Parts: sequence; structure tokens; C-alpha cells
Amino acid sequence: MVVWATWATSVGSNFKGKDKSEKGRISPSTNPLQSNRESRKAVVFMETFDAIRTVLAVRRFKDTPIPEPIVRQIVEAGRLTASGGNSQPWHFIVVRDKETLRRLGQLARTGPYIPQAPLAIVVAMDHSPLANSDGSRAIQDMILAAWSQGVGSNWVGYNNLPEVNPLLGIPEEVSVLAILPFGYPAEAVGKGQKKRKPLGEVAYNERWGEPFA
Ligand SMILES: Cc1cc2nc3c(=O)[nH]c(=O)nc-3n(C[C@H](O)[C@H](O)[C@H](O)COP(=O)(O)O)c2cc1C
Repeated sequence: MVVWATWATSVGSNFKGKDKSEKGRISPSTNPLQSNRESRKAVVFMETFDAIRTVLAVRRFKDTPIPEPIVRQIVEAGRLTASGGNSQPWHFIVVRDKETLRRLGQLARTGPYIPQAPLAIVVAMDHSPLANSDGSRAIQDMILAAWSQGVGSNWVGYNNLPEVNPLLGIPEEVSVLAILPFGYPAEAVGKGQKKRKPLGEVAYNERWGEPFA
């Protein structure tokens, strides 16, 4: 519950609809769910699902710096991610230097907006058979951890950024999987409206082709 209340307060200004209307409505002292352990679990689940439901690619950022504890939490989310055989084949390079951010924006053809962000995390992977899966999972954890604090982000590049290695002193044999710019969104985002295929098109019941929904 405490987790949810913190999230609702910090993210409220970036969200429209349900989340904003609920901001401040449930307080730790008055929420009736507090009295029931099972219900508390349900609230925590909703927090996770709501983050998944509302997160969107953010490509315009405010200049506002991200507080250090939040930066730490984002990196921790990456570090704590599970990997195949627990191999942890990742390296997270935290970049806040304006000139380096500018260079990253030049090098990443699909991320010219990177220099707008006050922070970028470069995700570099050791050679390992599951590197892309492990790295992708860590990236998603970092994006969701950030979003749960109101910090927007996006994924830039896909193992196609060798020019970043010399810029950051990354050894040649380590591959830059992605650059993640992080920052407070420049405009309100997250109405929970995503352009996605309907569930009936992608999910099946028991057997391929049997509609799930
Ligand atoms: C593996 C992967 C690579 C991506 N690469 C880029 C990229 O290089 N540049 C970019 O601006 N967005 C990139 N994106 C963001 C997607 O374009 C975006 O998430 C998608 O269009 C859905 O939009 P939404 O997240 O706002 O719902 C990437 C996303 C993923 C998952």
C-alpha cells in the first residue's frame, strides 16, 4: 500500500484519467483495503499492471534532473533482473554528461532526441547465447521502474551502435544493445491508450487459433 500511495502521488502529474483522478483519493490512513492482507496484495498487483498498461515510448523530455535515489533505483532494477543461468551478462553505463549525451544522440540514428534527456543508460552486453533476451528483460525492468516514479524513457537502437564503444571506452567484444534516455516527459503522456492488436488476434485458448477473448 505504501508503495502504491507513493506511486500515485509521484506519477499523478504525468497521467490523465484513472490515475490522476485517484491521486490523493486513497491515503494510507483511510484506505479500507489496508485492513485486509489479501486486498493489499491486489493493490500492489494493480500498481504493477497499471505501470505496464500506461507506459509509452517517451521521446520528449523536460530538462529537470532525475533525483539520485531514482537513478539508483532504475539501475538496481536492471541489476536485479533474472538472466539465463544467472549469467548477468550486462553492463549499465549511466551517462549524465551533456556533451556525452549530445554525442550519443548523434551516433544513434533512431534516437536524435537523446540529448534532451538528463540521463541515458547504455546497456552493453557480454557475448552470451542469451544476451539479447537477458538484456531486453533488464531494459524492460528499468523502463518500468522509471515509469513507476513518473520518469519516461524509450529504447533506442538494437545491437547496431558499435560507434558508442570508443566513446564510452567499452571493450570491442562487448556489444551495445541499446541506449535508454530517461527524463520527465515534456508533455502529459500515458492515457493507457496503446496501439496494439486486440487480444483475440494474439492470444489463444489451449490451442493455436482457439480464441482466448
Ligand atoms: C526492441 C525495441 C527497439 C526500439 N528501438 C527504437 C529506436 O531505435 N528508436 C525509437 O525512437 N524507438 C524505439 N523503440 C520504441 C518503439 O518504437 C515503441 O515502443 C513502439 O512503437 C510502441 O510505442 P509505445 O511504446 O509508445 O506504445 C523500440 C522499441 C523496442 C521494444
